[in-house]
Amino acid sequence: MAGKRKLEKFAMVSTFPNTFQNFRWEDPVLINNKQEEIDLCSKWREEYFNNDHPIVIELACGYGEYTIGLAERYPQKSFIGVDIKGNRVYQGAKYALENKLENVAFLRTDIRQIHHFFAEEEVDEIWITFPDPFRKKRQAKNRLTSAGFIDRYRKILKKGGLIHVKSDSDIIYEYTREVLDELKLPVFIDCNDIDKAEGLDPVLKEIQTRYEKIHRQLRQTIKYIQFGLDS
Ligand SMILES: C[S@@+](CC[C@H](N)C(=O)[O-])C[C@H]1O[C@@H](n2cnc3c(N)ncnc32)[C@H](O)[C@@H]1O
Repeated sequence: MAGKRKLEKFAMVSTFPNTFQNFRWEDPVLINNKQEEIDLCSKWREEYFNNDHPIVIELACGYGEYTIGLAERYPQKSFIGVDIKGNRVYQGAKYALENKLENVAFLRTDIRQIHHFFAEEEVDEIWITFPDPFRKKRQAKNRLTSAGFIDRYRKILKKGGLIHVKSDSDIIYEYTREVLDELKLPVFIDCNDIDKAEGLDPVLKEIQTRYEKIHRQLRQTIKYIQFGLDS
């Protein structure tokens, strides 16, 4: 039954005009709701959003709570949620359509391919929300803050752009700090418990993702790191 509902969501999300999908990870081509190939790389502002507003992407967006929550608060920015799971993207994309959020799009792809879908300096900010910890050391390259992923972000983030990482995971938190240290990247905020810190952007507490709610129930502290790529 659950499998059937998932399949229905996959089918539905393919018809959404605010969702673009890359079906074959090894072939970086986007498909729109008319099942046509569409090239939005360097053209998100001009051809999708029809404005020159800053572009913010949320990686590992899941159900897209940050994409939606930030889009509602900041109509003068454009937001794109990115995740590999169509049934999750479905949720945020459906909400955006029903609520006429024209500053929202979703991109279903493996984040390994992200640099094929955005041009150099096309992205103003990146949020990474509760990424999978990939607990085993040999899986570290899959963590969304590994050096390999940071290389990809470097290809698309504008100079002076910010990356925000929010997570319950000690593994992600410690690992991200180590990577930033090794790469000598500037860290602007490093907070191991957002509930105890003062002066943080209120959206960090106001917008809670599905995974965040689960982790809060388990009494996990929520960590936040904000950094840049200009070393
Ligand atoms: C723990 S969930 C968090 C979802 C959401 N941000 C939240 O906090 O509720 C991690 C998400 O990352 C996505 N993900 C992990 N690795 C990915 C990759 N390489 N490309 C695209 N999505 C990925 C998964 O599909 C999943 O939805």
